[in-house]
Amino acid sequence: MSTLDCQAASEIVIFGALGDLSRRKLLPALYQLEVCGLINEKSRIVGVARQEHDLEEFKAIVLDNLTNFIKEDLDEKILARFTARLVYQQLDFKEASSFNLLAETLAEGNSTRVYYFSTPPAIYGDICKGLNSAQLICDNDRVVMEKPIGHSLDSSIEINNQVSEFFKESQTYRIDHYLGKETVLNLLVLRFANSLFTTNWDRNSIDHVQITVAESVGIEGRWGFYDEAGQMRDMVQNHLLQILSLLAMEPPADLSADSVRAEKLKVVKALQPINRDNIKDKTVRGQYSDGYLKGVSVPGYLNEVGANTNSNTETFVAIKAEIDNWRWKGVPFYLRTGKRMTKKHSEIVIHFKEQPHNIFKDSYSDLPANKLTIRLQPDEGVELQMMNKIPGIASQMKIQENKLDLSFSETYNDERVVDAYERLMLEVLNGNQSLFVSRDEVEAAWVWADSIIEAWQSTNEAPKPYAAGSWGPVSSISLIARDDRQWVE
Ligand code: BG6
Repeated sequence: MSTLDCQAASEIVIFGALGDLSRRKLLPALYQLEVCGLINEKSRIVGVARQEHDLEEFKAIVLDNLTNFIKEDLDEKILARFTARLVYQQLDFKEASSFNLLAETLAEGNSTRVYYFSTPPAIYGDICKGLNSAQLICDNDRVVMEKPIGHSLDSSIEINNQVSEFFKESQTYRIDHYLGKETVLNLLVLRFANSLFTTNWDRNSIDHVQITVAESVGIEGRWGFYDEAGQMRDMVQNHLLQILSLLAMEPPADLSADSVRAEKLKVVKALQPINRDNIKDKTVRGQYSDGYLKGVSVPGYLNEVGANTNSNTETFVAIKAEIDNWRWKGVPFYLRTGKRMTKKHSEIVIHFKEQPHNIFKDSYSDLPANKLTIRLQPDEGVELQMMNKIPGIASQMKIQENKLDLSFSETYNDERVVDAYERLMLEVLNGNQSLFVSRDEVEAAWVWADSIIEAWQSTNEAPKPYAAGSWGPVSSISLIARDDRQWVE
């Protein structure tokens, strides 16, 4: 989406620099950009956090993280270049006057300031006010916001308003890290660089679509945070809807942020509402109970450390989503995502329609329809299931279902898999918003998600239990079986 040109000098200011996201993802991503020579030589990385540390201590923390979270050996020369960029500033985010200290730290001159808010959204407003009072916001500065942007439509409007008082939409980069994943980006190429799929991508050719984002991890020590959110807010409102939009959108005129985001927005707005009237037919929510993963016993959600044993929060969601537009009318998109499922496994399966007439009845009574599987992670790749003749002289033609398999690791074996945050950091530095979520998209997604959450609350039903290590509650099988279809597993 962008050229890999080196951008102008930036001051990359990470608020919450000592937090989990920064340590695991942001700092390693910046290091990898350094390895690729993609950071302007004059750019600096300013870590901001509440804790007292001097620069040497901060550098030691960063080095420790890079060692832990980067698989490859660190290169001494590159590391020296990278650490020379580091600056640390202790700050009380809620105290506007303390932002003057940051003003003293930040370079004067032509650098673009990139403010990365890697903190809870509740303090985005305070940070903006502090930056403003220290006169640290100019027209070409950028702000990067992590999800969750709110908990509902109302709270997302509140957060966006707090930030938009100081930053224009064109300066605002809302992260959904799925948009930085190689395989998610490849959806654009698959759909719009291959006429085979461009022309067969609608209700005339496609029977239904399945999107599965299964995780084997549980809530990883974040019980309090997760329990407020649940899988609907944590995964569906953002990651799954972004995948769905890219899959279902009309061809954008080009790859600019305006074109791509406008098309994605239309999809979310065309989603058929799910509410009290149809909630039972269209959704399933589940919660994992004690079970086994790879033979090891793991606790259920309510038995995790810090759990409130009465919680009704869902850790699994399955939804039959429908898009009310000309292209997709009548084509269900079955979405499924959960924690503590059998394995980490994310894929999209496009089920094409069956042949209208079978001339191979003698050897194959039920011709299976073609299936296009897009493996998002792990084992990234694309696979097309199709029928083929079995070679041989037998008078009766024998046919078989086979697959064309494009495995990314085999095809591009020299290429390191780029982490989503590397791509997204680079796009921020280059000032390209196409991989970031617009305010309109976030709000349209909340409208749809809020209606589902509200309908669940109105039924007051507990989520269906499923054993950790399984594919989710049995009712998710029924959700799709009611339409004479089944999940691909
Ligand atoms: C995050 C969610 O946005 O995405 C986590 O908050 C989830 O709960 C994670 O585990 C999944 O990301 P990935 O890249 O591992 O699929």
